[in-house]
Amino acid sequence: KNAFRVRLEDERAKALQGGGEKRVAKQHAKGKLTARERLSLLLDEGTFRESDMLKTHRCTDFGMQKEVYPGDGVVTGWGTIDGRPVYVFSQDFTVFGGSLSETHAQKICKVMEKAMQSGVPVIGLNDSGGARIQEGVDSLGGYAEVFQRNVLASGVVPQISLVLGPCAGGAVYSPAMTDFIFMVRRTSYMFVTGPDVVKTVTQEAISQEELGGADTHTSMSGVAHCAFDNELEAIRATRLLLGYLPLNSRQKPPSVQTADSRYRQEACLRYLCPDDPNHPYEMREVVKKVVDEGEVFEIMPAFAQNIFTGFARMEGHPVAVIANNPAHLAGCLDIDSSVKAARFVRFADAFNLPILTFVDVPGFLPGVDQEHSGIIRNGAKLLFAYAEATVPKVTVITRKAYGGAYDVMSSKHLRGDANFAWPGAEIAVMGPKGAVEIIFRGKDVEANTLEYTERFANPMVAAARGYIDEVIDPAMTRQHLCEELEVLRNKSVENPPRKHSNVPL
Ligand code: COA
Repeated sequence: KNAFRVRLEDERAKALQGGGEKRVAKQHAKGKLTARERLSLLLDEGTFRESDMLKTHRCTDFGMQKEVYPGDGVVTGWGTIDGRPVYVFSQDFTVFGGSLSETHAQKICKVMEKAMQSGVPVIGLNDSGGARIQEGVDSLGGYAEVFQRNVLASGVVPQISLVLGPCAGGAVYSPAMTDFIFMVRRTSYMFVTGPDVVKTVTQEAISQEELGGADTHTSMSGVAHCAFDNELEAIRATRLLLGYLPLNSRQKPPSVQTADSRYRQEACLRYLCPDDPNHPYEMREVVKKVVDEGEVFEIMPAFAQNIFTGFARMEGHPVAVIANNPAHLAGCLDIDSSVKAARFVRFADAFNLPILTFVDVPGFLPGVDQEHSGIIRNGAKLLFAYAEATVPKVTVITRKAYGGAYDVMSSKHLRGDANFAWPGAEIAVMGPKGAVEIIFRGKDVEANTLEYTERFANPMVAAARGYIDEVIDPAMTRQHLCEELEVLRNKSVENPPRKHSNVPL
């Protein structure tokens, strides 16, 4: 018995060492933490419960029987974040480069299964050289087993990926199917084929960081959601993000105490939005003046900045905020902003987060490139997402709501629960200049513009039809939204029964 105990302790000690001192030093020298260090920062102190610490691979090819590390390159289990449970897996680059073997995949699948069964989020910390080359198809099969579970868990429990090192080839598709991807500048990268293959095939020379680094994926490709300067910041942000989310799709998001009163008035909102419809302003300022304590957790802040997406709280209850931002591309909807917001709306709907929409949109972005790249197909995603969503939908039109974009942005016609407008709102098929040119063919431009403006460049017609529930004093926006969100807290609407909808992809 004693011999067994000694062996057990030995194996545990070996598992804790990962790939050994030298490899750990190499990891630190790159500015990266080890798999276990990351978990100890992510989880509440002393709460990590590890599973499969002693699990090992069964590969005997290429002398692998002599290279066995307990844990096999991934640390798995569960712990708590602010007292709430999460399942985690953390790939250990110091063991076989964090590469994914059959066994390594089984460990990840085990925590994902448990997470789904008990309705607990999954956080994956990715740092891996890809498929374990020595294992061949067993390793590829392992990936597909993980992918399958990513898909089954989608919309059931929140899935968050931190990419903290290499993530290349097929490996990218597991994070890609999770809800949020966070990356770290200079130490993490994601690509399907790396710079060497790209160079060979297309003769394009590019560095890893430029091809698939954190800034590339958070500003150009839209693959990842937030970029951070170091791992600590990425891990801190993950803890914060969890605070806005329910544990699963059957629960409501967690509420917190706040001292911020619903009656807080913001007189500056009466002036923040310029009267001249061509003058830009920063919609983030509007959002911050309205939500609890001016606090927002922005998702994809550097991508498609013509639309804002982020989490905030109203009287302590988490909400998902979507807002056209006239400070970028005049707030037009284009392909990137439609796709960005559509996915965010669908996430919010899946996880019972009420949707707060601020509208100032002059329409869809005109252009050959937009049309040929499929603005019709992609714009439809946002329209579809809003129309399908059954969570409370509360909307404020701050200035422009033109054309089809008016319909898309959580309009009354798409089952908007409460639709407000500020007094300066203009709700029309298009702006006065374009409208007069078309319907009056350039005749009596001045008089006709005046008439058109009086008729449509205000919220009166929409209010008279009931498409706008109330024209509100901008200073009192917060109060109106809080009241509506309170009365809608137990809203219950069901879509028709079906296998699943066929959202345009
Ligand atoms: N399978 C098995 N072992 C792997 C591996 C893989 N896919 N990727 C890395 N390793 C091992 C290396 O053999 C090395 O082992 P050692 O510590 O015993 O020497 C260790 O992990 C670290 O790799 P190394 O190449 O020294 O690290 P690096 O930081 O210089 O480079 C990569 C990292 C990911 C760019 C590089 O390891 C790589 O190209 N790996 C293969 C990627 C791949 O093609 N994967 C298969 C397709 S998905």
